[in-house]
Amino acid sequence: MSSQDAVQNTVVVGLQWGDEGKGKVVDLLAANARHVVRFQGGNNAGHTLVVDGETVILHLIPSGILQPNTTCIIGNGVVVDPEVLVAELDQLAKRGREVGPDSLILSADAHLVLPIHRTLDGLREQALGGSKIGTTKKGIGPAYEDKVARRGIRAGALLDLARFRRHIQGTLSEKNRIFADWYGESTISDDELVEWARPFAERLAPYIKDSVAHLHAAQDRGDPILFEGAQGTFLDVDHGTYPFVTSSNTVAGNAAAGTGVGPKDLHAVVGIAKAYATRVGSGPFPTRLDEHEEEEMRTKGGEFGATTGRPRSCGWFDAPMVRHAARLNGVTHLTLTKLDVLSGIKTLRIGIGHDTPEGDERFSGSPVYEDIPGWDEDITACRTWESLPPACQAYVERIEALVGIRAGLISVGPGRRQVIPRDPLFRSTQH
Ligand code: GDP
Ligand code: IMO
Ligand code: MG
Repeated sequence: MSSQDAVQNTVVVGLQWGDEGKGKVVDLLAANARHVVRFQGGNNAGHTLVVDGETVILHLIPSGILQPNTTCIIGNGVVVDPEVLVAELDQLAKRGREVGPDSLILSADAHLVLPIHRTLDGLREQALGGSKIGTTKKGIGPAYEDKVARRGIRAGALLDLARFRRHIQGTLSEKNRIFADWYGESTISDDELVEWARPFAERLAPYIKDSVAHLHAAQDRGDPILFEGAQGTFLDVDHGTYPFVTSSNTVAGNAAAGTGVGPKDLHAVVGIAKAYATRVGSGPFPTRLDEHEEEEMRTKGGEFGATTGRPRSCGWFDAPMVRHAARLNGVTHLTLTKLDVLSGIKTLRIGIGHDTPEGDERFSGSPVYEDIPGWDEDITACRTWESLPPACQAYVERIEALVGIRAGLISVGPGRRQVIPRDPLFRSTQH
């Protein structure tokens, strides 16, 4: 085996509808990675890190940024709102974490989210009324539309505002027609858009680089790379609950296309699932709780969106969905998060199937449940499998059997150290 084969490049993805705790797990695994790269999505993501009692929410900067000695990369597959990125750099600086171009790279090929995209996202949602997607209104969908329509603007254009001005002509004239003729809204001039971009261009220029070349050089040196997914499997534009999805592929396979690292170099895939389920935005949610129980779980789990502050819908763990997600992502290591939130619930339920006739639309049937006795003990201080109450162990073991993968990491609280590592991949982060 060459030294290259031994390198553990690891992809971290969500197996439900997002907010599974990806930020926390990436922060943890980043202790062993030299490079942490985001490969899709944009600032629709909100990834929460709790380190030494301090909470940091990241939207664009990879969750490896609080570990010393990591380079964070915003890959070519991400869509980037320059205004949000600059605000995030400022927020970190205020907390004493100055992020310079030596620790953050913005791919010159990443597409930009412009104010016209945000506006269009909002107008489209408004027009959909009761059948809205429930997007984050951050302009993510319209930015990816422009990318695929081959009229998008890439970060590299910020390095030369004359070029930026030329590049925006196509998308701007089209958007202005839509704003004025379709929605009866005001238009925006190219001067206004260039002036909007100017301060961000100046600030971000030192960070804009060839991220593919950086990653390939890292591979040549044998540095481990961590790939940070955003959103979750059932928000994937192909595999999710379409049309109630986001506008990118969220599955692990996209870690290759979204960064320029070949698929044979994605060695491990960590799939993260909450010990229950949540969803924010519209769309099917078969195991959703009734209003009263949902309120209780939302309060216990602090289930409010990290990006929009919206209350998350809550439900029971849906085993067939997570099993399917594990297959779609090629999951090698399962992580269960927020197990502590279930303490004190007398009887827990796990969705084990859907009573939908074969061939019917997926996600549409009512779920079939298995009831499992709960536990009362507070488990937030548990650090070993043996210290978990037997009922809690039985709940995890039932999930493992239904999903078909052992839980290599169990998370019992928001803090970086509130974990039970069972697999060597995670145990090695605990020094
Ligand atoms: P992400 O989008 O997947 O990174 O997840 P979010 O940060 O949006 O949402 C996860 C929330 O759960 C955050 O507030 C985390 O601090 C919190 N969290 C993560 N793991 C645990 C856990 O094991 N227990 C509890 N109680 N909270 C957790
Ligand atoms: P993280 O990375 C949860 C949801 C939105 C909406 C749908 C489409 O924190 O897990 P978009 O703005 O992407 O066009 O909205 O996707 N959504 C998320 N839900 N976590 C996220 O990210 C999400 N990013 C988008 O609520 O239903
Ligand atoms: Mg989130």
